Amino acid sequence: MSEFIFNLQKTDGQARRGEITTPRGKIQTPAFMPVGTAGTVKAMQTRDVKATGADIILGNTYHLMLRPTAERVARLGGLHHFMQWDGPILTDSGGFQVMSLSKLRKLTEEGVSFQSHIDGSRHMLTPERSIEIQCLLGADIQMQLDECPPFPITEEASRESLELSIRWAKRSKDAFEKLSKPGQALFGIVQGSVFEDQRKRSAEGLMEIGFPGYSVGGLAVGEGQEQMFRVLDFTTPVLPKDRPRYLMGVGKPPDLVGAVERGIDMFDCVMPTRSGRHGQAFTWDGPINIKNAAYVDDGTPLDADLDCPASRDYSKAYINHLFRAGEYLAATLLSWHNLAFYQELMARMRTAIEEDRFAAFAAEFRARYSAGAA
Ligand code: GUN
Repeated sequence: MSEFIFNLQKTDGQARRGEITTPRGKIQTPAFMPVGTAGTVKAMQTRDVKATGADIILGNTYHLMLRPTAERVARLGGLHHFMQWDGPILTDSGGFQVMSLSKLRKLTEEGVSFQSHIDGSRHMLTPERSIEIQCLLGADIQMQLDECPPFPITEEASRESLELSIRWAKRSKDAFEKLSKPGQALFGIVQGSVFEDQRKRSAEGLMEIGFPGYSVGGLAVGEGQEQMFRVLDFTTPVLPKDRPRYLMGVGKPPDLVGAVERGIDMFDCVMPTRSGRHGQAFTWDGPINIKNAAYVDDGTPLDADLDCPASRDYSKAYINHLFRAGEYLAATLLSWHNLAFYQELMARMRTAIEEDRFAAFAAEFRARYSAGAA
């Protein structure tokens, strides 16, 4: 069967329990997608990522088009084969990364031209080229090219930007219809900063074009959790109930709980891997810094109940030692633990929704997490 299907199985308040079917496998939602920017979930082997419970991972158009190039990945059998991940892959379209990473950017109606952060070479990303790249990579879920404006932004500048993103959504869909294979899906991205009327306009413009899923972009860009939740409060009710909703680039564990509470189905974030490489470990009692002197003699594991070697089998003292000694394994073990923790959090949210006790779960989670260590 080669169809992209979203099956909404159960709701509890605004929270949703569902399942996405793709030709490369099923995705249980709410889902967290580990970030594999440059064809690797940093410091991790894909089989270990899979064992944490991840159904899908993310890749980045921007990084892969520059190095090793989408054409080379395609010649070598596509991104799944290249990185040895046989489950679904979602790719971001590149616009967001151009804005945050590249030099000398120029945005026009046609697209965005920029200079590579790697070697200074010049490139152009248009909606059509972004889709071409995502198809060369073989991404199962693709993103339209959009503009993610900075925060704060004036109402007028935000309106102009979201209208451009809607025009790019249409061009992205036209290109996708020409280039994609059965079972692949393209999502539209809702923009509009913190403005209610603009989020509605953006969602309606995209729904008129029609997508099998909708992303919420332009958040976690400095507006803070309270504003982000307020935007979700008026954005998710406008979106069709029978399509998955993906909150891009979010977030910390309490952000995920609050966003699921507001009707989000999918997330990605570098947080578990990036902060893991820097010594931060997530626990039910809040984040801790494993490099702290408090752990030099701590023979207990990070989480004896997690079915993950990094969480269960190694002591905090050992991981503390690895960081202090500058050992590569330090980054691997904490990335691994944090990914397992994030997947366990998603699994517990899914079960709470199934059992109609999401509000109680969320309250309990928040109380313990915020009372905790750091
Ligand atoms: N990642 C995080 N936020 C965004 C966004 O607004 N657009 C895109 N394309 N990617 C993102």
